[in-house]
Amino acid sequence: MLSELAEILNFKVLILKSLYFKMQNIIIPSEFEARCFKLLGDDNINFLDFCKKPLRKCIRLNTLKVKNPDKFVENLNERYKLEKVPFCNYAYFIDSHNPGKMPEYFFGEIYIQDAASLIPPIALNLNPDGDEFVFDACAAPGSKTTQMAQIMNNKGCIVANDASDDRIKALFFNLDVYGVLNVVVTGMNLERMRTDEGLSRRFDKILMDAPCSCEGTVRKDWKVLSRWGVNLINFLSVQQKKIIANAINMLKKDGTLVYSTCTLAPEENEGVIAHAVRNFDVEVEKIYIKNLKTREGITEWNGNDFGRDMKKCIRIYPQDNDTEGFFVAKLRKI
Ligand SMILES: C[S@@+](CC[C@H](N)C(=O)[O-])C[C@H]1O[C@@H](n2cnc3c(N)ncnc32)[C@H](O)[C@@H]1O
Repeated sequence: MLSELAEILNFKVLILKSLYFKMQNIIIPSEFEARCFKLLGDDNINFLDFCKKPLRKCIRLNTLKVKNPDKFVENLNERYKLEKVPFCNYAYFIDSHNPGKMPEYFFGEIYIQDAASLIPPIALNLNPDGDEFVFDACAAPGSKTTQMAQIMNNKGCIVANDASDDRIKALFFNLDVYGVLNVVVTGMNLERMRTDEGLSRRFDKILMDAPCSCEGTVRKDWKVLSRWGVNLINFLSVQQKKIIANAINMLKKDGTLVYSTCTLAPEENEGVIAHAVRNFDVEVEKIYIKNLKTREGITEWNGNDFGRDMKKCIRIYPQDNDTEGFFVAKLRKI
């Protein structure tokens, strides 16, 4: 009797859920669901359920401006409920519905950034005291550039590059508001340009936060799935391979390149890293970030063998840390 009732209730919940998604124009392409199943097996249900939950708001304290973070958090705690992001000591989940309206945001004291997006700069292990020369290959609007500048305490130098003039405007704005002083901005299209003259082997560290199909951001905006398709994924994968080739060329021997995307598509992740390892002088390094739940990169997809080293890459699924989805790989130039 009870189990029958539970089944009926479950059925009703399913109908209500699908009505709710229909009302919000949330349509999950069947091909997307099939790929999620292939990637995650039964956990794909958990994944899709999690994707439908609204994303927790997260803020990063800009330590270039906030000189006493403990006091700052204590003050914020009087107005909001804050919860520390377990793997980043300067970021907090916040129960404000619109942190973009907080005065601290206008003063450049907080940056609104999903917790998963904090990971690539952390994985780069930047030196807070040193003189590192860093290239941010796809930088705009500057979430990670401003985060890297704060980790580097405004020391060393970051060359922040982006191919989009419009997005570079937002990058300039953010550098200004967040008090960043160690950044030079360039507007190179890394897919088309040749980096062999002048730019070759220049940088100690490179972040390539690639343009991608954004599957991992569905919790923020379901519209990404209206543009989604395997053709787009394949197109982006070609673009990412061209950009990473140039980025690797710009890296010094023994230098580190962190590659990241906010998508889960293997063609745009392990597929790009496997291509880099096979064609250039780089090897994959293991990433460990304390208090972050990660899954290994995959070694095979649709008959393509990516190699065992891909296990050193990390996949961050929304259900694991209650964040967006992300992929991060770390390469060392040999
Ligand atoms: C994922 S977004 C970068 C987000 C940024 N790293 C941040 O944290 O704010 C990818 C960026 O790559 C840039 N991009 C796309 N194609 C490019 C290319 N061929 N060369 C350089 N940048 C490119 C896009 O304009 C976009 O701003």
